[in-house]
Amino acid sequence: MSDWTHGYVTDIEYTSNFYPELAPILMHFNALSKNVVLPKASSVFNWLEIGCGNGLSTNALAACNSQSEFYAFDFNPVHVLNAQRMADEAGLKNVHFFDDSFADALQRDLPMMDFIVLHGIYSWVSKENQSLIVQLVQKLLKPGGAVYISYNCLPGWSGKAPLRHLMTQFAVRTGGPVADKVRAAKQFVNELQGLNLSYFKDNPSAKKMAERLQAHDAHYMAHEYMNADWNLFYSSDIAADLNSAKLSFACSAGLLENADELGLSKETIQRIAQESDPTMRELLKDFAKNQQFRRDIFVKGKRKYAPVEVEKIARESHFTLFVPRSSCMLTVQSSIGEIILPGEVYAPILDALAQQPLSLSAISELMQAPLHSAINAIVVLSAVGYVHAIDIDPDLSATTCLSFNKIVVQRALYGEPMAILVASRLRTAVPVSEIDQFFIAAQWENASDLAGAVWQKMRSLGKSLMRDGQAIKDEHENLIELKQREIVFLKETMPLLKTWGVL
Ligand SMILES: C[S@@+](CC[C@H](N)C(=O)[O-])C[C@H]1O[C@@H](n2cnc3c(N)ncnc32)[C@H](O)[C@@H]1O
Repeated sequence: MSDWTHGYVTDIEYTSNFYPELAPILMHFNALSKNVVLPKASSVFNWLEIGCGNGLSTNALAACNSQSEFYAFDFNPVHVLNAQRMADEAGLKNVHFFDDSFADALQRDLPMMDFIVLHGIYSWVSKENQSLIVQLVQKLLKPGGAVYISYNCLPGWSGKAPLRHLMTQFAVRTGGPVADKVRAAKQFVNELQGLNLSYFKDNPSAKKMAERLQAHDAHYMAHEYMNADWNLFYSSDIAADLNSAKLSFACSAGLLENADELGLSKETIQRIAQESDPTMRELLKDFAKNQQFRRDIFVKGKRKYAPVEVEKIARESHFTLFVPRSSCMLTVQSSIGEIILPGEVYAPILDALAQQPLSLSAISELMQAPLHSAINAIVVLSAVGYVHAIDIDPDLSATTCLSFNKIVVQRALYGEPMAILVASRLRTAVPVSEIDQFFIAAQWENASDLAGAVWQKMRSLGKSLMRDGQAIKDEHENLIELKQREIVFLKETMPLLKTWGVL
């Protein structure tokens, strides 16, 4: 390992994932729901991703926000090469990747930014590097600009942190490439589970972590656990670090975390509301939820909407269904348990959205309720994944989205699937399964028998459909199942993909 790594894992690439919370359209809505002004996704903005990995989030967002400029850097040149290759193939002209370290980026001549995002970085680098990141934010963020930052936090990690320590102490002693260390660490943790350790008895969350570790792949395990640095923060520590760059906490970047009534009891919400300091309120929330990971949005200059602006933004902000109406159940199983949506409030909104996208003002009229009730209802429906913000302005990113989507679908055809496509009207990427991407490819080729064409593609890749966790071996059965999926694709998925500007 050479010096430039600062003990960060570089001999195994990070996974390629898209993180929807980084999308300006979602950041803006999250902030709006807490009455904080953020730059609009439809405006012309500059964006910077610090430690962009393979660059999928930056590339996807650049494709569906073609009016804006995207800058991103990572000190691992393999990551930057992967990111640049995708940008080049998709013909994206508004992305700029650099193989910079945090220190290099501080020296680079970059424009002032409206959005700076760092996902999966701050907990995993040294104090010195954290300070460089804060300096970068201080240097580059415009007044009114927003920062997205994620990190591992306390108190949620308190019971489990010792297991990470023990596991990495073992791993460093095994030596060799990081993939070998990960394998050895998994076996070691497996072995520990067989022993009658009081630690596991007294810390059930650590026992669960030990069980779950076995399912993680080497890329994730290496970057999550095997770096020299691994820091846990209270949310108040992060607020203090970013306050030093003149930033204030705006809201969470997670929709579920912002929908307080879904995650917290009435009594807890009332108790938290008694605290006047937002940092204290967030800290209390972390204890209420035993939070272990946070995604926060900070702003440089926290401005509330003036009443006249709220009216305007409510008329301009539109929402659409994010799943077929038939899939919108009123009882939802979520990561925070079962959520029950009162039918008298939510069913009419869902029915109306099934007809067409609606503005917040229109939803408020439909509910015959004040605007803040409409915003709360949309926060809840977005948090459970039923609705999404949509841009009804002229579709400026249609061309870049199409070329990006062609690349993604082509990669799926070569057995390198990414389960997303970009949506020009949603200004973000949306989940689209590998099979649906095969249906899209078959349509682009004007195949007369879609299911048959999809089966040919799957067969050439040695793939078959799965049922109850088992591969369906028989060709005829695959075709029958694909015929059924074709009906759902044409009737339910395609109309949504068209509304969103995917197709
Ligand atoms: C866990 S990955 C997250 C990647 C990306 N943000 C994502 O969420 O997919 C952390 C990234 O930070 C990069 N990194 C770590 N230390 C760095 C440094 N000092 N300068 C620049 N990049 C760094 C790593 O190469 C890695 O790609």
